[in-house]
This record gives sequence, C-alpha cells and structure tokens, in this order.
Amino acid sequence: MRLQGKVGIVTAGASGMGRAGATRFIKEGAAVAIVDLDGGRAEALAGRLRAGGAKVLAIAGDLRDDGFARDIVARTAAQFGQLDFVWNHVGHPGPAAVEGVDMAQYELAMDLNLRSVLVTTEAAIPHLRARGGGALLFTASVAGLTGSAYSPIYSMAKFGVVGFVRSLAKRLARDHIRVNAVCPGLTDTPMLRTFVARPDQAHTANQHPEMVVRETVKTVPFRRPPSRTRSPTRRCSCCRTRRPTSRGSHWRSTGR
Ligand SMILES: NC(=O)c1ccc[n+]([C@@H]2O[C@H](COP(=O)([O-])OP(=O)(O)OC[C@H]3O[C@@H](n4cnc5c(N)ncnc54)[C@H](O)[C@@H]3O)[C@@H](O)[C@H]2O)c1
Repeated sequence: MRLQGKVGIVTAGASGMGRAGATRFIKEGAAVAIVDLDGGRAEALAGRLRAGGAKVLAIAGDLRDDGFARDIVARTAAQFGQLDFVWNHVGHPGPAAVEGVDMAQYELAMDLNLRSVLVTTEAAIPHLRARGGGALLFTASVAGLTGSAYSPIYSMAKFGVVGFVRSLAKRLARDHIRVNAVCPGLTDTPMLRTFVARPDQAHTANQHPEMVVRETVKTVPFRRPPSRTRSPTRRCSCCRTRRPTSRGSHWRSTGR
C-alpha cells in the first residue's frame, strides 16, 4: 500500500491510461478524484471502485475551461481534507498538418496539453506546500523527447510539458514537491485511434483506423503497443510523496 492515506487527482481519468492509473492508485490506498469530460464514464468507474470500498470522487467537466481546471483542486481538497498528488494526464493529438494547419485544432492541442495542466498545477501547489510536500506527475510522450514527423504540433506541446516538468522540479525541490513526466509511446487506448484517423493526416487518409493501428504496431519490436493496463507501476512510484529520488525525470514506456 504505497499510497496509503494519500489523496490525489487524475485528469482524463475515465479511460485508457488514466483509468488504469487511477485504479492502481486506489489499490495502493489513495483516495482519488477522477476528472473527465465524460461524466458518465467517470461516475461509472467511481461507482465500481466505491463498491470495493475505495474513496473516489468523480468530477465531470471540460478542462479547457480555466475555472473548471482550477476548481477540481478545491473540490478534491474539500471532499477529502487534503491533497498530496496530481497526475496531469489530459492531452490531445491536435492537428497532423503544418501546411494548411487547422488553428482550431492547434488551440485544442495547446489548451489540453499545456494551458489546462498549468492552471491545475497553479491551483495545486499551495495545497501540496501546506502538506509539507507532494508529487506532480505529467503525461508527455516520446513525441516530446524525440519529435514526431507525423505530429509536429503535438511534439511542440509535449516538448513544452517536458520543459515545464524539468523547470518545476528545480523550482519546487525545496518545497519537497516531486515533479516528473511519463512519456508513453504508442499505447492501445481510444486516443491511438484519434491519432491515426485525423482528417488532415495525409498518409492515413481513407484507411480504417484499426487497420492503421495494426500496421503501425508492426514497427514496435514486440509487435504490439504497451497495453493501457501494463504501465501504472511507474505512475504509482512517481506519485509517492516521500521517495527522495527521481525529480524532473521523464520515463519512457514505448515497447521499443
Ligand atoms: N495513447 C497513446 O498512444 C498515447 C501516447 C503518448 C501519450 N499519450 C498521452 O496520454 C494522454 C491520453 O491518454 P490515453 O491514451 O489514456 O487516452 P484515452 O483516449 O483513453 O482517454 C482520454 C480521456 O480524456 C478525456 N478528455 C478529453 N478531452 C477532455 C477535456 N477537454 N476535459 C477533460 N477530459 C477530457 C476523454 O473523455 C477520455 O476519457 C494524453 O496526454 C496523450 O497525449 C497517449
């Protein structure tokens, strides 16, 4: 029970990696707020976890809204009496194109990968300080470490996440707040289908998303992307608040 007595937030927690991570945090003893645009899925997950005795709060809303991105922190602290960690998992692939870029899709990517995580983090820091320390975990991507020919805008945003993490880790070290990033590669979640079926993604035009996923995973040596449920252990150790090592780190999970 590595998170016994801790309270945390998982954004984009109703699906994929967020859902797997939130479930694991609860198994490790934490109380968790699951924040998601899809309130039905968030509440259904929270209900199942509560039936097993867990302390879970489902919060439905759009993290593009600054007020909501801030408010999730106050609501979690009010419900559970404290806040120890936040996993800023929300993000978006954004547009595939550079020439002819759709600026509405660009704004969506910047809002969800960068703006909303900044707003939530700003709100969370005083709560973590008040606890004498805590943990902030962010989801970047291998595209934010190496660049992606297929997703330059997404890479731009995720490089930003990695830069923010490294900087915050230095800035908040004296407050005993650990800051780290996970950098997944292809992971078998609904978002992988969004990545491969973007309307402005020329090289996959007119192909069925599942076919593209099948072809894409052939580039992974294990011939499959990491499953959404295989990687929460690293998230869990990053959200521990007393582990002295690993600050400003980025952890790859790529199957490569
Ligand atoms: N799946 C991959 O291959 C992959 C690879 C690298 C990084 N990532 C990153 O992982 C994160 C997404 O994870 P996933 O693959 O588990 O996705 P997913 O598709 O399983 O889940 C995304 C969740 O985000 C929620 N969401 C979408 N817009 C929202 C909004 N405006 N406000 C609140 N919630 C919103 C959705 O309702 C959904 O539940 C992103 O940061 C993404 O960039 C994914």
